[in-house]
Amino acid sequence: MNYHIATIGGDGIGPEVTAEAVKVLKAVADRGKFQIDFTDYPYGTDHYLATGELFPNDVREAIRTTKSAVLLGAIGDPRVEPGLVERPIIMGMRFGWDLYVNLRPVRLYAEHLCPIKNKKPEDIDMVVVRENTEDLYAGIGGILKKGTPDEVAIADMVFTRKGCERVIRYAFEQARARGKKKKVTLVDKANAIRAMDIWTRTFAEVGMEYPDIEKDHAYIDAACMWMIKNPEWFDVVVVSNIFGDILTDIGAMVQGGLGIAASGNIHPGQTSMFEPIHGSAPKYKGKHVANPLGAIAAGAMMLDYLGEKKAAVRIEDAMARLLLSKRIPSLSADSGLKTSQVGDMVAEEVSR
Ligand SMILES: NC(=O)c1ccc[n+]([C@@H]2O[C@H](COP(=O)([O-])OP(=O)(O)OC[C@H]3O[C@@H](n4cnc5c(N)ncnc54)[C@H](O)[C@@H]3O)[C@@H](O)[C@H]2O)c1
Repeated sequence: MNYHIATIGGDGIGPEVTAEAVKVLKAVADRGKFQIDFTDYPYGTDHYLATGELFPNDVREAIRTTKSAVLLGAIGDPRVEPGLVERPIIMGMRFGWDLYVNLRPVRLYAEHLCPIKNKKPEDIDMVVVRENTEDLYAGIGGILKKGTPDEVAIADMVFTRKGCERVIRYAFEQARARGKKKKVTLVDKANAIRAMDIWTRTFAEVGMEYPDIEKDHAYIDAACMWMIKNPEWFDVVVVSNIFGDILTDIGAMVQGGLGIAASGNIHPGQTSMFEPIHGSAPKYKGKHVANPLGAIAAGAMMLDYLGEKKAAVRIEDAMARLLLSKRIPSLSADSGLKTSQVGDMVAEEVSR
């Protein structure tokens, strides 16, 4: 099998961590019976400042139709207005390709990485399935009478039956495929935001198709608390876009930090996009100290999505061994290891 992967390193630490993910993917492909070729795209703030070009629609469409998946580093740079470059690239793919699942595994690889006392790897092993195309991110709203005392700003939460149903069904399928606690927890705020009743009803209806899966529910405020107090209660969480955005950063900290958390932006069966959940961390740009494990883990998720499950597990196991043995002593930028050293260690470990 030969996979064609588009890489967009992007801004800040993005290109540095993406290079390490590519290194590990090449190493694991050498061990397996598949090939990967990479095509690098220059989009990001440097490219925008040099050319005025953001992410042309024809390029985006060509990637969608000719590539197996996209590996993204990070987008965002303080030299330009917030969102100017992020929106067309990240949202361009999420919305333009209808990547309706944002899949975020939360897995603790080694006890010493967890900021919560007495939590072990077996306590922290869940996936959050965040809806990725609707809600406050749909862009419904705007600003009226901007800059005047009468200014009004509106951003509407948009939930469709189709949008809720497909992501809830994906969550139930995940619970089955994982075969662990076989439980799906719906997280919402339907007590205060009554429009979220659409989630409650859709969850109940779709859930009837999955009698083997336990159903649970938590309001977002309580879920933030439980995620820290009792992360072992969660198996699969399904959540709307904005609440999922926030909840998964808590998830990242529970598993040790932004330096390891990865995500997939997925439309099952179609070209999908994988990225570390951290941003471009501009303060570390060019210092070569950013931890590339989030990007490497995103590469593993991509392989899993493409069907190379053994290779994905090989990468995850290599990361787990390096972290458990403290050969990679921490996930932060002051671990004492350069970005490329961490990449080398994982590449060597997967080649064993
Ligand atoms: N998907 C994306 O590309 C994405 C996601 C989030 C933020 N952003 C963008 O990134 C820029 C910076 O945003 P921010 O500062 O809020 O978030 P950030 O994730 O870039 O950084 C927050 C902090 O986390 C730590 N950190 C992040 N990644 C790390 C790594 N790999 N290794 C070690 N430490 C790491 C650093 O201390 C950093 O200052 C903004 O322009 C924002 O829009 C992009």
